[in-house]
Formats: sequence, C-alpha cells, structure tokens
Amino acid sequence: MQRALTGIQPSGQVHLGNYMGMIRPALELQEQYAGYYFIADYHALTTVRDPEFLRRSSLEAAASFLACGLDPERVVFFRQSAIPEVCELAWILACFTSEGTLFRGHAVKAAQQGGLEINAGTVFYPILMSADILLYDTNVVPVGEDQRQHVEIARDMAQRLNHRFGDDTLVVPEVSIKKEVGVVPGLDGEKMSKSYGNTIPVFSTRKKLRKTMMKIVTDSKTMEEAKDPDTDNVFALYKLFGNADQIAELRNRYEAGGMGYGHAKQALFEIVDDEIAEARDRYEQLMANPGRIEEILAAGAVRARAQADKTLTRVRSRVGLT
Ligand code: ADP
Ligand code: TRP
Repeated sequence: MQRALTGIQPSGQVHLGNYMGMIRPALELQEQYAGYYFIADYHALTTVRDPEFLRRSSLEAAASFLACGLDPERVVFFRQSAIPEVCELAWILACFTSEGTLFRGHAVKAAQQGGLEINAGTVFYPILMSADILLYDTNVVPVGEDQRQHVEIARDMAQRLNHRFGDDTLVVPEVSIKKEVGVVPGLDGEKMSKSYGNTIPVFSTRKKLRKTMMKIVTDSKTMEEAKDPDTDNVFALYKLFGNADQIAELRNRYEAGGMGYGHAKQALFEIVDDEIAEARDRYEQLMANPGRIEEILAAGAVRARAQADKTLTRVRSRVGLT
C-alpha cells in the first residue's frame, strides 16, 4: 500500500484553513493509503517559547485530528518528537543540502515577513521537514499550498541521494494539494494563518465561532444594495462549505440586494456549524480525557519507530555510517 504522510504544528488553535486545506483532504486519503500523520512539535519549537502552551497545543492538535475522524487503527498517529531518529536523518540530509536551499524555504520567508526571530531552527526547517517525509518512505504528502515548496525540497533531496547512492535509497514523494482549498482566506481576506492573527478556530464554542465569523471584513454596502459575491470574504468561505444549490442560492441573494452582510455571515455560521457540530462534541470528550490521547499517540509512536529504524538503517549504510 502506498503511504500518505502529513504533519501539523502545535503552535496555536487549529483553524478552518488547516481543516479545509489539510485535515479533511488527509482524512480522505486514509481510506486508500497507509497514513502517517503526526504533531510536528519539533517544528513548533522554532516559534513557541512556552512549554505549557506547547504541551496544550499538541493535545489540541491531536484531539482535532481525532475528532475530525482520524482512525488510529488505520493511521499511524504520533508526536514527531517521540521519534528523535528524525533528527539524525535530518543531519544526514543536511550534509547533502546546499546552503542556498535553506534560505529559499517558505518558513524563513514567513518569519522574515512576520518580523519573527530567525533562529537556526527556522533555517533548518525544510531539512527537518524533508526528514519527516523521507523517514517513512512517503509517497504522497497532503498539505495546503504554502507547503508545496517544502515538499519540493524533500523531492530534490531524495533524488539527489538516490542519484549518488542508488535509486532505492529514498522514496521520492509527491505533493497533494486540493486546488479549491489550497489557500483558505481568513477574516481579512488574506490567507488564514496563525501568524497573521486572522483565523477562525474550528473548535471553540458555537457562540465564539459565531462571534468570530461576525468579524469577517466586508465593504460598507447597505442592506438594500446589490453585492458582488466574487469580491466578498464571507462568500469566499461559504463557497468552500456549501453544496452547489446552497452556493447558487446565496449568490442570488447577494446579487438581488436586500440582504445585509450580517445575514450572509449567519448563513456561513450555520453551514460551518452543521459541518463541525459532531466533531466538536468528540473534541470536547477527547480533551476531557487527555490520557486517552496520549495512549493513542504512544501506540502510534511504536509503529512509527519500526518504519523509522528501517529507513535509517538503510540510509546509514548507504552513506557509509556503519
Ligand atoms: P499556520 O499557517 O496557521 O501556522 P500550519 O503551518 O500549522 O498553519 O499548517 C498546517 C497545515 O494546514 C499545512 O498543511 C498548511 O498548508 C495547511 N494550511 C494552513 N493554513 C492554510 C490555509 N489558509 N489554507 C489552506 N491550507 C492551510
Ligand atoms: N511544516 C508543516 C506546516 O507548517 C508541518 C510539517 C512538518 C509537515 N513536517 C511535515 C507537513 C511533513 C507535511 C509533511 O504546516
């Protein structure tokens, strides 16, 4: 069976961009692929400085994945840092990576744009991510558009090592991005991201979800005026959740006039709330029982390590570390 692998950083609350862009597509793949899904806590350490926040966010990210339908019997689900071997593979890969590759990475550019500290971990980010992917002999990597380039770096690395040490040294991964949801917009219409403070968290209370949605930025047209759905942030999100009939109906209401943005936001709230209501209940139950989450992650780590050992033994031997 081919393998799918992806990770999420525990660096804040899981939001609708993560959910639509990565979690839902990754969960669709769990049927046909052997999944390796993990909480990328080593990566989060490039920005998170509060140990309690990191622990809490790791649990929340794990609970989110599980609540949305990750089947831990099927998918190998674990914390990245439970398999520190990934750091060894990262080191080996680093020795075959030109310095220029590192500064090309999205993580460094995002940190530069956000005025964040750029530590050595930020620069090393794409190498560790390549190690994540290559350690588990991954075939496909479901992610949002912003991660495309990181997966390309992993592909380049696999090809480079294969060229030198033999074609079966590393599996060359493919990126898998769902076009319609590759870049989910946030409250201000820019890409939704924890680092831009424009997110709609998936698992807050219904009341908070509604309140957050009411903050979506719109123009100042009055209730009576006709509105252009194609330039509106509320409609942009609605399109991702509604079915064809619902989208067509809301489009008509925009174009006819007589509907305020408040109504559109309410319609968006209802459709999103419908989609996530059951998952929210499961999320609450999971968060009330962190021991259960830890058990699942621990069992996943045992299975992940078995694969990690195999790949690492092979790579060590190919490069001459035996
Ligand atoms: P953030 O950018 O908020 O820090 P992460 O880096 O943890 O989110 O992203 C986890 C996954 O969710 C990645 O696969 C990423 O591509 C995807 N993702 C994040 N934001 C979006 C978005 N706005 N639209 C689509 N996918 C997204
Ligand atoms: N960098 C990814 C993100 O911020 C998280 C991640 C770490 C990842 N390692 C990975 C994603 C390996 C896919 C494959 O979203």
